Amino acid sequence: MRTRQTIAVIGATGSMGTAIAKSLSKGNYRLLLFTSDKSKLKDLQKEIIATTPGADVEPISCSYTASWEADVIIVAVPFAMEKEVADKIREVANQKIVISIANPLNETYDALVTAPDTSAAEELQKLLPNSKVVKAFNTTFAADFAQPVIDGKRVDAFIAGNDNDALETVSEIVQAAGFNPVIAGDLSVSRILENMQLLLIRLGIKYNYNWLAGWKILHQ
Ligand SMILES: NC(=O)c1ccc[n+]([C@@H]2O[C@H](COP(=O)([O-])OP(=O)(O)OC[C@H]3O[C@@H](n4cnc5c(N)ncnc54)[C@H](OP(=O)(O)O)[C@@H]3O)[C@@H](O)[C@H]2O)c1
Repeated sequence: MRTRQTIAVIGATGSMGTAIAKSLSKGNYRLLLFTSDKSKLKDLQKEIIATTPGADVEPISCSYTASWEADVIIVAVPFAMEKEVADKIREVANQKIVISIANPLNETYDALVTAPDTSAAEELQKLLPNSKVVKAFNTTFAADFAQPVIDGKRVDAFIAGNDNDALETVSEIVQAAGFNPVIAGDLSVSRILENMQLLLIRLGIKYNYNWLAGWKILHQ
């Protein structure tokens, strides 16, 4: 059995950071939560412990320290802030798994700001050349974490990356969060995954899915 892992969530008080932290606190993980607002972090820790007594969750006042202690780092900040985060954690994220959840949307949610021959995940990999960047959780909305089974079906959560061991580790994390992990390919497949979520966002706005929607591959 794998030893208990420590996961740092950078941007823990945002919609996704909070959803991920609440969800993974029910699993066998030690969670280190970081954002700049210490009081919001304390509130989140209290809320998690109230609903999941015994959860191992700790607010950390520095992204460098959180990443230093972590086995896996989840970057749950807007795409535009990733360079700032990467510059702070680069040294201590060496050889570690870094999960890119970003969808690099424009301000009107109708296009991606990245060029067609790259993705947010690949840009993060360039910023953190010695880390194992894995794309995950970009195709799941924050609301899905409280309800990962929609219309009777467990929502698929796609994963992409270049390191097989890292893909397996992230699959376990995705499963612990209640989703059905689907390893989709190498890191360049993130281009497709980020466009898939652009489509789902546009459909959600058009048909008023209320942010509770997800992907499911139907197959035999
Ligand atoms: N919302 C979704 O359903 C969803 C689904 C899939 C993927 N995503 C992706 O998830 C990421 C986060 O989205 P979100 O909706 O959770 O955004 P959000 O609610 O705006 O939260 C962003 C978080 O990042 C923190 N943050 C901002 N700049 C930071 C920095 N320089 N260093 C450290 N922390 C920083 C914020 O903290 P402060 O408030 O203290 O600044 C906040 O906790 C985005 O890349 C988005 O594309 C979102």
